[in-house]
Amino acid sequence: MTTEATADARPIPTADWVTIADLYANPYPIYQRMRADAPVHWVPAVGRYMVVGYHACHEIEQDQERFSADETGSLMKRSMGHSMLRKDDPEHEVERKSYGGVLRPRAIKQHWTEVFQRNARTYLDRLKDAGSGADLIAEFAAPYAAENLRLIMGFRDATQEDMQRWSQTMIDGTGNYADDPDVWAKALTSSQEVDEAIDQLLPYYRDNPDGSLLSQLADMPISLEAVRANMKMTIGGGLNEPRDALGTMVWALLSNPDQLQQVLQDGRWADAFEESVRWVAPIGMYPREATRDTVLDGVMVPKGARLGVVIGAANRDPAVFEDPETYNINRPKQPHLAFGGGNHFCAGTWVARASVMQVAAPMLFDELPNLRLDPYNSAKDAGWVFRGMLSLPVHWG
Ligand code: HEM
Repeated sequence: MTTEATADARPIPTADWVTIADLYANPYPIYQRMRADAPVHWVPAVGRYMVVGYHACHEIEQDQERFSADETGSLMKRSMGHSMLRKDDPEHEVERKSYGGVLRPRAIKQHWTEVFQRNARTYLDRLKDAGSGADLIAEFAAPYAAENLRLIMGFRDATQEDMQRWSQTMIDGTGNYADDPDVWAKALTSSQEVDEAIDQLLPYYRDNPDGSLLSQLADMPISLEAVRANMKMTIGGGLNEPRDALGTMVWALLSNPDQLQQVLQDGRWADAFEESVRWVAPIGMYPREATRDTVLDGVMVPKGARLGVVIGAANRDPAVFEDPETYNINRPKQPHLAFGGGNHFCAGTWVARASVMQVAAPMLFDELPNLRLDPYNSAKDAGWVFRGMLSLPVHWG
């Protein structure tokens, strides 16, 4: 593929018909229209070049020389500090390696799976004690994901509610394009609370090591500023996504009883999980910046272009996925981009898979007999930068 600017590359079309409100409500018809025209569009409402084609997104992920993660004017840096997610190698690699094996399969098998099972039991018992109906997001998926992350990260004096508040307010800062001072104030308060917690915990873990992330980082030759930023990014990136993956998976299976039957009969939780995050990518878009004039999948991208890598659209590209708008656990295997790719490939992939597909989803269907959608209160999904279920009212028994 040609990577430098050439005369025959297409100019980028402008999608001035796209609005943030429409994207938030349901981005998929918008992505269909954009993809049919070109893999990249300038979108004035978003202030970015939105990359909606699978091959173009994949090309960006694999090439940090042309597409840097260190974006100019990044709101994420302002909200959470300069984390590894907004750095290129070699700086990024040093910080990524500082996480050691804490989030990797061996630690998950030896240590974390048991923790996930205990947490799932706690919130499942609360559901059962409270009756025969609930909002599965607020009453199970959110506290479960938050408590798992709290323990993995080692925030021993915080609560799962703190984790949810920290995560949401700092994510709101990352998306504060309107520059709302109230949003910044809340993000700053959370950021300071996290800094204080880290400052107290690092000396503690030097004397009392355990398997948590903060314990792993306590003796690492990484600056305090970087540790703080990476912890905040991980709070922002490790809570809502498993929550949303679980919510989407349960909703999709309850809406497709024939597929649910196959999953229950043959234990196809992995197929159901991968198809869920393909169908609705919990992180729908993330940023990159072009370091030079370049050609991306046949279109001209200028140096300095602020790009939105729309993996939510790439995962439904009909050039790669047959009948992409449909949830189908039986589709031919094809790698999705929900966990990103290249050097920033999600560090928490194995945590997400273990906590959602191995533990929480099977337990929910096993222990809540005749689990079904509430016919009177419909489930609500929304979002495009992050997308998931806002509420999922269900009944059982
Ligand atoms: C279904 C759940 C999840 C999804 C869909 C997801 C998705 C992603 C994506 C797309 C990226 C790359 C973003 C970019 O390149 O700008 C990423 C990075 C990251 N994720 Fe996840 N994530 C999930 C769960 C988690 C969990 C549970 C954790 C932590 C326990 C986590 C920790 C991270 C970290 C630390 C990075 C930064 C990696 C780096 O910069 O090298 N994620 N995630």
